Amino acid sequence: MGEPMMNGVPMLVSMDRVQPLMSRQGQPMVPLVSAEILGMATTLLSAGVVHMRRGHAARAHCHLETDVIVLVWKSGTAGALTLCGDRLENEIWQRPGEALWIPRGVPHAAVNPSRVKRIVAWEFRSSPVLSADNQLLEELEQIVSDRRAGLAGRRVLSRRFGSCGTGRRTSRRGVGIVPSNIGRIGL
Ligand SMILES: [Fe+2]
Repeated sequence: MGEPMMNGVPMLVSMDRVQPLMSRQGQPMVPLVSAEILGMATTLLSAGVVHMRRGHAARAHCHLETDVIVLVWKSGTAGALTLCGDRLENEIWQRPGEALWIPRGVPHAAVNPSRVKRIVAWEFRSSPVLSADNQLLEELEQIVSDRRAGLAGRRVLSRRFGSCGTGRRTSRRGVGIVPSNIGRIGL
């Protein structure tokens, strides 16, 4: 067995010291661990912090060669909504402390349904450069904007309680009423 290979030195990065960038899909993002940061030469993965202002929706997109894990840290009581699937036909509602794995190639768009709270989420990608491999899906853009308008127009989001009244919402744990092509692990 040979010596372990060392490709770099451990490096500490504070989110206060990194300049936020606007991702191609329209989300402000602070790259924390990424080969695009000076002096960092990651080889397999990257991480960053996503900030979504209230009512914001990302543009429909996919990462053709990158798996993504999104861990919501802060949100309104309704959580974060991710539309996903070939026609964005599936909805995943995610709350702080829950991790969502988005396999490479799956079209998706995130929505902050809250009228009062921003979403802060950690994003981990199987790519050394956080801002790479984002393919916009213009043909799905109308679906995102309709869904976002539907949430706002039907006032399903209570300012006080943040509840969501959509018929397709998953339960708190989601087991049993999640579309069959979405796996979910609850406690
Ligand atoms: Fe994404």
